[in-house]
Amino acid sequence: MALLVRFLRFARPYRVALAVSLFLVFITTGLSMPMPYITGQLIDKLTKIYGAGWSTLSAQSQSDAISGAQNYLVMVIFILIGLAVAGSVIGYSRSLIMMYLGNRVVFDIRQRLFRHLQRLSMRYYERNSSGRIMARVLYDVDAVQSVLSSGVVDMLSNLVTLLVVFGIMLYYGITHQVWVLSLIAVGVLPLYVINFLAMQSKIRQAASEARDQYSEVYSTLAEAISGIRVIKAFAREQSEARRFVREIRESIDLNIRTGKLRTILGINANLITRAADITVLFLGGMYVLGQKMTMGELIAFRSYMGMMYGPIIALVTINDTINWVMAAVERIFETLDTMPDVQEAEDPKRLGVVTGNVTLENVGFYYDPGEIVLQDISIEAKAGTVTALVGPSGSGKTTLVHLLPRFYDPTEGRILVDGHDLQDVMIRSLRRNIGMVLQESFLFQGTLRENIKYGRPEANDEEVVQASIAANCHDFIMEFPDGYETVVGERGTRLSGGQRQRIAIARALLRNPRILILDEATSDLDSESEALIQDALDKLMKNRTTFIIAHRLSTVMNADQIMVLDHGHIVERGTHAELATAGGLYARLCEVQFKRAQEKVEEHLEKMRDDRPAAPEETAADAEPQQAEAQGSAETEATEEEQATKTDTSEDGAEAEAGSSEQSPEADEDGSD
Ligand SMILES: Nc1ncnc2c1ncn2[C@@H]1O[C@H](COP(=O)(O)OP(=O)(O)O)[C@@H](O)[C@H]1O
Ligand SMILES: [Mg+2]
Repeated sequence: MALLVRFLRFARPYRVALAVSLFLVFITTGLSMPMPYITGQLIDKLTKIYGAGWSTLSAQSQSDAISGAQNYLVMVIFILIGLAVAGSVIGYSRSLIMMYLGNRVVFDIRQRLFRHLQRLSMRYYERNSSGRIMARVLYDVDAVQSVLSSGVVDMLSNLVTLLVVFGIMLYYGITHQVWVLSLIAVGVLPLYVINFLAMQSKIRQAASEARDQYSEVYSTLAEAISGIRVIKAFAREQSEARRFVREIRESIDLNIRTGKLRTILGINANLITRAADITVLFLGGMYVLGQKMTMGELIAFRSYMGMMYGPIIALVTINDTINWVMAAVERIFETLDTMPDVQEAEDPKRLGVVTGNVTLENVGFYYDPGEIVLQDISIEAKAGTVTALVGPSGSGKTTLVHLLPRFYDPTEGRILVDGHDLQDVMIRSLRRNIGMVLQESFLFQGTLRENIKYGRPEANDEEVVQASIAANCHDFIMEFPDGYETVVGERGTRLSGGQRQRIAIARALLRNPRILILDEATSDLDSESEALIQDALDKLMKNRTTFIIAHRLSTVMNADQIMVLDHGHIVERGTHAELATAGGLYARLCEVQFKRAQEKVEEHLEKMRDDRPAAPEETAADAEPQQAEAQGSAETEATEEEQATKTDTSEDGAEAEAGSSEQSPEADEDGSD
């Protein structure tokens, strides 16, 4: 009930429209009520004139009676037409108003939900799959709309109809002494309710399972779309398709089960109606013969009876719909009630452009209580200096840099920017000072220009070009026929990894943040892109407080300070010169890098020796993530130092081919399934 009240608040701005449409409901219902009565009267009038004594009447009286009846007929027809037209016009207006109202409310809810979702912290997105979130914004809100647009009004109109018809039944019982008929007509109603109650719990159960399953279908689809690279890289298309088919098959089974139960319910209800109708026809016929009621009255009575069952079925099933919608409403409110983990301070300080002194004081952090990810981290990063974070995979580097823009808040200690505790500053103003380039850069559906301007939409074209030149992406952009207007797909599907990365750097340059975070921005790239990106990064890092997580020694070597992380602790700190000779973890990491570099040189030499023609560029680009993924799973620890070993292009081509030919036997298998 509280839920309903809260929900009705969404309709508050439209209460006038709601009141008008409720008023119209009464009118349309009222307009449909006299029809059976009028029809019955007409039938009686018409049948009566040929009654007893007709043959004794004079020819003049006979024709008078007939023309009188004709006039009556015409009058009734006009009344009926009038009622029908008025009913349609008013009904139409009512539907329009309700439709408008339903859509508006849904629009409001969706907007609220989306805004709220955008405010929620990273943690929320880690805990809830994107499919489930999408289902909430789309599917759950649709449920609300369906009931708002028609359900509420229908329910009211049904209720009114039912009450009026009850009254009419009572009236017939009293005035015509046909109590039995009224009793039968009204007496079957409890049977309806019993029938419904008997089926209700089963139907509800089945329906809720069906909806949950639908959610699963949604998630599976969303995953298959966002994970398409991995799916293709591991040639798992067929098995993903099978998984999806399994999910929708289950969904269909559940839908059919629900449908079956609903049908049984409907058929039972129908049987009850028929039985009552036939009984009334029989008894009513006897009454007509016994002159207790006229033919017209019997017909009118039956019409009224018929008007009763529709609303009853609707009222009985609306309960089901309402439960469904209330569940949806509950989920919507649950989302709206979820507070962001990272909270804005009561009276936040607005940061202007900061100098960029960043201090971490005894920072500790965990995602889940009991699993400490960072402990006792103290770092002093002076404005304009470069702090490199190195350490094995899972040591907490990414987590550490995510604390700076407050993706998460430290569970212990504090972080200061220019002496301001991050907890006290306005989150937006903080983030405006921070730029990030991550391992995989996300590009939005749109043009390259739009993507570069994302961080600073007000930048002019001149600035965009300057940033692009500095980020070494101007040249390749100009090679596209559409230049800066080239439309890239979701995630920038038309660009190579290195190109995407340079776009991301241009984006960061244009934004011109004081604090820069680079998280493995150069991994997974071929050596040529890497050089270009390194060059772009060097420009980007100039005069900014930079935190860089990198695999390449060359990047780390020039850092002002290096923090070596292991299991969430800083185990070593210093400059390259100090650490390389200290014989600790850093020295070991350097050694591994050196070996890999050597291997790479040898590989390169070998490649130059057998000078095979390179595979088409597209194939190579397609196969690259495959290589990276495969390696990633094979040696988790080693990925940290060097992931993207430059691979022989022709070998890649061969692998891609093998991948595609592999599909045919699987397809056969699927066909027999
Ligand atoms: N969103 C998360 N929820 C729970 N645990 C996480 C999450 N992200 C990372 N971790 C865990 O925190 C630790 C540090 O991860 P991360 O900061 O990504 O390390 P690195 O970047 O050094 O590879 C790892 O043990 C990882 O499993
Ligand atoms: Mg990381």
